[in-house]
Amino acid sequence: MDYKRNILITGGAGFIGSHVVRLFVNKYPDYRIVNLDKLTYAGNLKNLTDIEKKPNYSFVKGDICELDDMIALFEQYNIDGVIHLAAESHVDRSIKDPFTFAHTNVMGTLSLLQAAKIKWDGNFNGKRFYHISTDEVYGALQFDGSMFTEVTKYDPHSPYSASKASSDHFVRSYHDTYGLPTVVSNCSNNYGPYQFPEKLIPLFINNIRHGKPLPVYGKGENVRDWLYVEDHARAIDLIFHEGKTGETYNIGGFNEWKNIDLIKVMIKTADKVLGNPEGASDSLITYVTDRAGHDLRYAIDASKLNRELGWKPSLQFEEGIEKTIRWYLDNQEWMDEVTSGEYQRYYENTYSNR
Ligand code: NAD
Ligand code: DAU
Repeated sequence: MDYKRNILITGGAGFIGSHVVRLFVNKYPDYRIVNLDKLTYAGNLKNLTDIEKKPNYSFVKGDICELDDMIALFEQYNIDGVIHLAAESHVDRSIKDPFTFAHTNVMGTLSLLQAAKIKWDGNFNGKRFYHISTDEVYGALQFDGSMFTEVTKYDPHSPYSASKASSDHFVRSYHDTYGLPTVVSNCSNNYGPYQFPEKLIPLFINNIRHGKPLPVYGKGENVRDWLYVEDHARAIDLIFHEGKTGETYNIGGFNEWKNIDLIKVMIKTADKVLGNPEGASDSLITYVTDRAGHDLRYAIDASKLNRELGWKPSLQFEEGIEKTIRWYLDNQEWMDEVTSGEYQRYYENTYSNR
């Protein structure tokens, strides 16, 4: 079949990527969706079992850092659009191992840009390179009501955010220097199903389920702006199709929470869903040494995206967090497989024999 578009989604086996792949495969049967993922510890093909047999979906195991492989992939699938999510994404890991973050996030993004530049070769009509980034590139805010806008100066603090900032700059440089039709978005903290349980929300839900300590960094006073992952995927769809070339769009939930307040809501909701008496898990809260360089507050002003493309978050936080908690508690098998490492055998048993 001749597809209307051939879209490469990188990192599609990860948390946000799997929601984006699912949305595109289901919504656009006339697009071929190629999911390229290295299947690191964070990539899990079990996140996509519901769509993996659809005719317009292909999975390719590969590494964005391998330029020759990326060029061959563009050639094989005649790629005309890229939605680039593949990355090392966890701040705590970046503090322990910054080199891996520089390699994947900077060199990997550069390889993809170069592959697009070589294969599209100045013929940019109908092409798009969309880079998914984070609000962490803007640095940290005080408790003064200010927000990050698209013109806030970059000021990354962690090795993770420094690597994402660098990759954003490379994307813009390919637009300004070679005319590559790029677009960038910077999003706040996502939550929802299929997030690897090293991140705050799934880690704490799983620990509550098992009566294990909840390690709160510092005093729990840091603030994050939370967005339900399907709302992020909807924004990505909109920006991919309607965003202006060369532009940046901020995406956020207008939903700031102090960590400790969020944790209390999680405990209350999880205890309710589990049928525990109110307050049963309160004593699990354990204050631990703060994260090095812990950014105090993030807050995204997503009004440009609302004004220009009409996007806004669809889910109220109380609804989203209860839905998320129920999902993790109802999908204990998924959680057990991820925490035991069992999910990593899925590729060998299913895909490599096809
Ligand atoms: P994730 O860690 O859950 O998934 C990352 C995926 O990338 C995994 O499937 C992994 O296997 C793959 N990958 C890693 N290295 C690769 C390589 N060299 N080649 C090919 N694939 C590789 O991450 P996530 O939370 O879904 O984040 C996805 C993107 O969105 C990242 O670019 C991240 O910076 C950005 N982002 C995340 C959030 C958030 O709250 N999670 C917020 C804003 C932006
Ligand atoms: O803001 C967007 C970013 O959000 C993304 O770019 C990153 O990929 C994503 O991982 C996320 O980064 P954070 O560092 O904000 O997320 P994390 O879930 O690791 O932590 C959320 C907050 O909770 C943060 O202030 C640190 C704190 N925390 C985290 C963990 C894992 C704890 O107090 N205890 C914990 O055990």
